[in-house]
Amino acid sequence: MKIIPSIIAKDQKELDIRLGRVIRYSNLFHLDVMDGEFVRNTSLQFNLALPNACYEAHLMVKNPVKWLDDNAKKMDRVIFHAESPSLSRLISDAKKLGKKVSLALNPETEIRDIEPFLELVDRVLVMTVSPGAYGAPFLPETLRKIKRLKELYPGIEIETDGGVTPQTIKSMKMAGAGLFVCGSYIQDNDAGKAIAEMEALIR
Ligand code: DX5
Ligand code: ZN
Repeated sequence: MKIIPSIIAKDQKELDIRLGRVIRYSNLFHLDVMDGEFVRNTSLQFNLALPNACYEAHLMVKNPVKWLDDNAKKMDRVIFHAESPSLSRLISDAKKLGKKVSLALNPETEIRDIEPFLELVDRVLVMTVSPGAYGAPFLPETLRKIKRLKELYPGIEIETDGGVTPQTIKSMKMAGAGLFVCGSYIQDNDAGKAIAEMEALIR
């Protein structure tokens, strides 16, 4: 699966509805975890009941350590923002728990800011929108960062997050991304068709 459906949910009911729309079409899901501080929105601050599948947690929270302690069990991969404090500690704690780890990069964060940590992870999540909500506008200038990252670190997998649609996905792939997190385009359309449509564009 190269297109990863993303879920923003403020409570269990919303989680059920949004996962319900996509559960048949993927075996990997991206959960946006927001605490209302790191970003303005709040999402998934509750006891998660998740159907059987693989999950990656995108932690847009001020206190990733606490979240990790409470919720890591259900996750296959955790995604820490490069802007989080004590990053190398966080990465090693998650690895000790047996988790795969990605680093997320906000649009304004430069590659040089994360270089010391790149050898610790196998994947980078490049935010292609300003984080915090479904439906934010795609920022084309982030393509430059994907390209540069791929040139400098060809062994690192690049996942894009935000603004993934049939209009943008090809340019992300051409810049060097191999995985694409998509929220509103899948949620607002027939999920199966939306995924198939985008998969055909990057085949
Ligand atoms: C943005 C989240 C994304 C979001 C993507 O802050 O991290 O994962 O769900 O939503 P769309 O695809 O609507 O930009
Ligand atoms: Zn996300």
